[in-house]
Amino acid sequence: MAPPAWAVLSFSVSGVGGGDAIWAYHSSRVSRSLITVDRFAHEAEQLRAVFDARFAAPREAHSDRFVWDYWHVPGQYTALRTPAWTYFPRKLYAQFHNRLVAWGREHLGCHDVSPPWLSLYVEGCRQELHGDVPHGPWAFVVSLTRWRGRTFRGGETLLVRDDVLDFWHDFASNRVVEHGELIRVVPPKFARLTVFDPRIPHGVRAVTGTHDPREGRLVIHGWFVQPRPFVRGALPVRALASQIAELTGQLGGWIASLPVSGLVSLAFGVDRRGHVRDPRVLSDTTRVPHSEEPARKALVRRIRGAIAGWRFGPQRAVSRVTLPLVFERS
Ligand SMILES: [Fe+2]
Repeated sequence: MAPPAWAVLSFSVSGVGGGDAIWAYHSSRVSRSLITVDRFAHEAEQLRAVFDARFAAPREAHSDRFVWDYWHVPGQYTALRTPAWTYFPRKLYAQFHNRLVAWGREHLGCHDVSPPWLSLYVEGCRQELHGDVPHGPWAFVVSLTRWRGRTFRGGETLLVRDDVLDFWHDFASNRVVEHGELIRVVPPKFARLTVFDPRIPHGVRAVTGTHDPREGRLVIHGWFVQPRPFVRGALPVRALASQIAELTGQLGGWIASLPVSGLVSLAFGVDRRGHVRDPRVLSDTTRVPHSEEPARKALVRRIRGAIAGWRFGPQRAVSRVTLPLVFERS
């Protein structure tokens, strides 16, 4: 069998950040499959108010009501959707969008987001399980759903659990196997950002109990895309690019025939002497067959160790770097 092909993204280092605000978010939970950030979108109330106003008078027909696509793929997807970036007032939407992009750069090392959809789920709307390949390394859902006090059932984001994807590895004959053991359920609480590895089979539980758009499941969603290094501070792009090129050269030998795919994003500081400070893994979706897991962990440790030893020479000021590394199999 031919060794699995792999590729590390060809890094064009650009889009160096300047004075973007660092936001304080309410709470954040990170796993290798799923990240949730509650109270993420400060604009959520205003965005929601725009939607509510458009549907406030069902007997009136205004042009801004005629923007919805009834998206139905039999047996797979049913929802109403419209481009989010044209639905909302430009300034308000831009504020939300910029927050989302800044978060993705800082936390995932993804430079941009795909043009987001606004999707509405009323009676019968759902997404059956599927994977999004190759839309982007992380998918996102920002909820504008009035989750507390909802009148419908369903509407949660569903993700197949890792145990299911590797079901026979540690199978126990007496293990409980019901929905909760098989599927992770993420409620779309109002203003919550849900970020997940879109290669994992996922869906949306069918909504039942309302035909009223004002009472349905409403979300803005899309994908974080374009992984590339992100620098905040004085570190010259050229210096970083040459270290990355060296690392890319080393990776070929370290990976050898390991069938690894996914995205690992690392963060580190650079002090005034040009030494790397506090290198750490921010997020890591790299996956291998279970028997290769020790080798995968060793690879990530080796990358982190190599970065810890980087020297950039004297700096005018300290910097913080987010460095994403993409591994692909074909
Ligand atoms: Fe999807």
